[in-house]
Amino acid sequence: MKKILITGGAGFIGSHLVRLFVKKYPTYHIYNLDKLTYAGNLENLKDIEKYPNYTFIKGDIVDAKFISQLFENEKFDNIIHLAAESHVDRSIYSPMDFIYTNIVGTANLLNAARSIWENNYEEHRFYHISTDEVYGSLGETGHFIETTPYSPHSPYSASKASSDHLVRAYHDTFGMNNVISNCSNNYGPNQFPEKLIPLCINNILHNKPLPVYGTGKNVRDWLYVEDHAKAIDTIFHKGLSGQTYNIGGNNEWTNIDIVKKLIEIMDEELGRPQGTSMSLITYVKDRAGHDLRYAIDASKLKRELGWEPSIKFTEGFRLTVKWYLNNQEWLQNVTSGAYQKYYEQMYTNH
Ligand code: NAD
Ligand code: DAU
Repeated sequence: MKKILITGGAGFIGSHLVRLFVKKYPTYHIYNLDKLTYAGNLENLKDIEKYPNYTFIKGDIVDAKFISQLFENEKFDNIIHLAAESHVDRSIYSPMDFIYTNIVGTANLLNAARSIWENNYEEHRFYHISTDEVYGSLGETGHFIETTPYSPHSPYSASKASSDHLVRAYHDTFGMNNVISNCSNNYGPNQFPEKLIPLCINNILHNKPLPVYGTGKNVRDWLYVEDHAKAIDTIFHKGLSGQTYNIGGNNEWTNIDIVKKLIEIMDEELGRPQGTSMSLITYVKDRAGHDLRYAIDASKLKRELGWEPSIKFTEGFRLTVKWYLNNQEWLQNVTSGAYQKYYEQMYTNH
């Protein structure tokens, strides 16, 4: 059995990827390594936790000794690395966690992989999951391609850019079989309600203000999370060593339009008269260093590996809303305790 290590598998995207791999590949044993920070939640994986080809390991990728011991013991065949601090706003208030986990953590994994794969790199893939934010910000036109120069603006995107550079350098210097993908904004079930869409779903549900940063005219390209997981599957199996692949939804929205669309669907699903929740929209102080627009050109991935998004936005968006409404206990659990403190700190002075 192939031993595949997925890091960050208890988080939003990681949990969808773990589920896909555990179910689709019974001949792979999937090891999910996760520290279970505020963003990691084993409830996300309840349905597959008893599968014989699944093992959860609690651990911190920043702990070099632990990581090298784990790799010595388990001799993983491949790694798909998602573990990260992922929220831009948190990186503005507390950058060091991002620097440790996203940079040092990635370096620890690369070093541990090197020590067990040395002289046999072709057979062992290190796949690093990254973000379109490393490319910086676009004006009103244009798209990021794989060779767009890096120009990160937040501590989060700078830490992801650093880790991308390390992964590329370990390929170029040591010949490791490394691949990177840079994806646009994901949405879907199990996303932590600090991010725009689930935060607004939760607030509409509880008739709380919907904080729209600045003018609300910033643009993001949204992709359904299961489509991202499928793209990762494709790139893991068919991508070429040393290559980078952009992943995107070809689906650009301004933030204010996304919030209005959400209100439309939520009001309908909650049986409220259309437009009831519009009054909750509240413009607040802009995010520091706020990137205006992200837009991904994912044509390389389509042309070379045959992947393209399969879920239409209208379908994915409604599925997402319905998931949150049907899983209010999940929402309640993750928004009790520490979340309240975060929310107060983040939004009270806006
Ligand atoms: P998330 O915050 O939901 O999950 C991150 C997971 O990593 C959590 O389970 C957390 O417990 C774990 N983790 C954090 N620090 C750790 C550490 N030191 N050791 C071990 N585990 C640790 O994040 P997400 O949105 O699922 O993003 C996953 C990856 O995809 C990240 O690398 C992110 O940069 C990238 N990405 C995210 C998006 C998006 O829209 N969410 C888009 C493109 C790329
Ligand atoms: O582009 C990929 C990135 O997308 C990932 O790498 C990140 O991990 C992920 O968090 C996401 O980053 P964003 O900053 O784009 O996502 P977020 O949901 O935080 O914000 C989306 C947009 O909405 C952004 O322009 C900021 C704005 N926003 C966000 C929040 C939380 C608001 O206007 N109000 C809010 O309360």
